[in-house]
Amino acid sequence: MDLSSLFWVSRLDRKRPRRQVKRSIFVPSLVNGEGIFFAISSHGDNKMGKLKIGFIGAGTVGTALAVRLKRQGYDIAAVTSRSLSSARRLNEMTGDVVVYNTPQEVADHTDLVFITTTDDAIQLIVDAVRWHQGKYVVHCSGADSLDVLEPARMVGAQVGSFHPLQTFASIQKAIDNLSGSTFALEAEGALLEQLKELALSLEGRWIKLDAGDKAAYHAAAVITSNYLVTLVKLATDLWGSFGIPADQAIQALLPLLKGTLNNIENLSVPNALTGPIARGDIGTVQIHLNTLKETAPAIIPAYCQLGLQTIPVALAKGKINENQAKELEDILHQTLKTFSERDEKCVQC
Ligand SMILES: NC(=O)c1ccc[n+]([C@@H]2O[C@H](COP(=O)([O-])OP(=O)(O)OC[C@H]3O[C@@H](n4cnc5c(N)ncnc54)[C@H](OP(=O)(O)O)[C@@H]3O)[C@@H](O)[C@H]2O)c1
Repeated sequence: MDLSSLFWVSRLDRKRPRRQVKRSIFVPSLVNGEGIFFAISSHGDNKMGKLKIGFIGAGTVGTALAVRLKRQGYDIAAVTSRSLSSARRLNEMTGDVVVYNTPQEVADHTDLVFITTTDDAIQLIVDAVRWHQGKYVVHCSGADSLDVLEPARMVGAQVGSFHPLQTFASIQKAIDNLSGSTFALEAEGALLEQLKELALSLEGRWIKLDAGDKAAYHAAAVITSNYLVTLVKLATDLWGSFGIPADQAIQALLPLLKGTLNNIENLSVPNALTGPIARGDIGTVQIHLNTLKETAPAIIPAYCQLGLQTIPVALAKGKINENQAKELEDILHQTLKTFSERDEKCVQC
């Protein structure tokens, strides 16, 4: 028998301080297929437990990571930020963190440096610091690849990225929402293992990205999060056309949004899809287009493009046939064509 099928190693208690975290093995009973967990070791010898961690940039993500990692027993040793007040706030919320004036001092006094500045500042910081062999240097940007950390890598530092796939509107929200988030990791070797440990300690999951995956990964995050906000804005604007103010519209649309997310979570895509395209109600789509031409012509291209992307989902759900799909495609393509020709004429006139 393949022994790997007998052991499932899992983390039992991620809320305990780091040094008390236990590993367990799950041993299935050969009699009834069930099994029990055994704690097998503590992590007192784990390198991450002894690492000094520093933060350059004490904003939302840096502060939230520092607070949550400190709670897990990690040694958050140093911080600096553009303004002293932000660095001091991180120290007040975390405790026992030395506030330094410069990124260089944080780099010199720690083993693992998180650069949690705005994306645009990462390169400036990396270029300005003298890095040393053996350091771990990590950024949290979803958009930047590891290329921005090249000056550190060139002198022998191990570089990586640790991107929480989450939206953090404030430090407190970030502290709460880190749990359950997925962390996209770009790193190799020992640093990759350390970052996996960190993600699990934060009660998150992790995925590993290869070089070149980052842009597509980040575009997906933008579509899921940012463009959802834009879609809600378009919807509330439409409610404005029949006299309902945005705050009331949001109140009315939120249960619909939450219901949809709930369906995605429980039924998955494509079964979560409802509405005229999922049903093949071609007449309803035509009524929408006629109305939008009058009330909100600017959003017709977005409506048509999203509709075209929705047709394969409806087909996958199995509620429409190829003929209905073709008819829907024709209407949406034709409307798009009419609009782009109209726009071209406007540019010429
Ligand atoms: N917020 C999110 O939802 C989210 C989600 C995933 C990943 N991220 C990533 O996390 C990183 C941090 O984002 P954030 O939302 O935490 O940004 P943020 O709240 O704006 O914080 C950025 C911090 O960087 C500091 N900073 C800017 N320029 C600096 C410089 N030249 N030297 C030192 N410190 C500097 C600022 O310092 P002062 O306050 O001192 O001026 C600020 O506190 C970014 O790479 C972002 O892409 C963010």
